[in-house]
Amino acid sequence: MDLFEAIQTTPACRAYKTDAVPGALIARILAAARCGPTGGNRQPLSFVVVRDAEKRRRLRDLYLPIWDAYVAGIQSGQTPTGLTPKLLEKVDRYAQGLAEIPVFIVVCFDTTLVGAPDKALARQSVAGGASIYPAVQNLILAARGEGLGTALTTLHCAVEPEVQKVLGLPAHIGTAAVITVGWPAEPFPKKLKRRPLAEIAFADTWGESLPEAKGWD
Ligand SMILES: Cc1cc2nc3c(=O)[nH]c(=O)nc-3n(C[C@H](O)[C@H](O)[C@H](O)COP(=O)(O)O)c2cc1C
Repeated sequence: MDLFEAIQTTPACRAYKTDAVPGALIARILAAARCGPTGGNRQPLSFVVVRDAEKRRRLRDLYLPIWDAYVAGIQSGQTPTGLTPKLLEKVDRYAQGLAEIPVFIVVCFDTTLVGAPDKALARQSVAGGASIYPAVQNLILAARGEGLGTALTTLHCAVEPEVQKVLGLPAHIGTAAVITVGWPAEPFPKKLKRRPLAEIAFADTWGESLPEAKGWD
């Protein structure tokens, strides 16, 4: 499919059919995912494809308490969110039904191979993720190209030692995301809800309007 169309119409899929996903398709998607850039081409990534039902249940059991706390934070107004109450309900149904989604891909990385040039700054460090998440987006788009839905989640990272036990990860292998993969139960959207480009793209100086950005709502 057209690359721009894929990029602009690939949502977080929260409703899946339970039909199996052929292993050959998963391999094709992962082969595309690994082409993402990595610092110094150190390629810290590895993937664990979880299809075993018991392991998916164990990962669901790790996810749900964190999800429930997150929802409680939203409901009490303490956690900011871009999710409407209706969408939050849908995302909650997704969370409760997580173990029925046929494939989880756990994105792992070698902690000895990821550097973070911003780690000494007095703010949260994000640059280390730059060797990981481009591959994740490749994975999401490659799946879309095959007609598969995906949702990127990171809550499991909070309980990484438990995830390491479930998947037999060595101590130096960290976890960056769990991506659910399956055949979508609903059509892909025509457009995603995103901030107007003029609000987020600037000319030369932050805050200076970029004339060409107008009209991209
Ligand atoms: C860092 C990160 C963590 C996320 N965690 C979750 C999650 O735990 N559960 C979930 O259902 N979606 C999760 N998402 C998906 C976002 O909710 C989704 O990308 C966002 O709402 C936009 O959705 P849309 O692309 O369908 O418009 C996460 C996305 C990112 C980038």
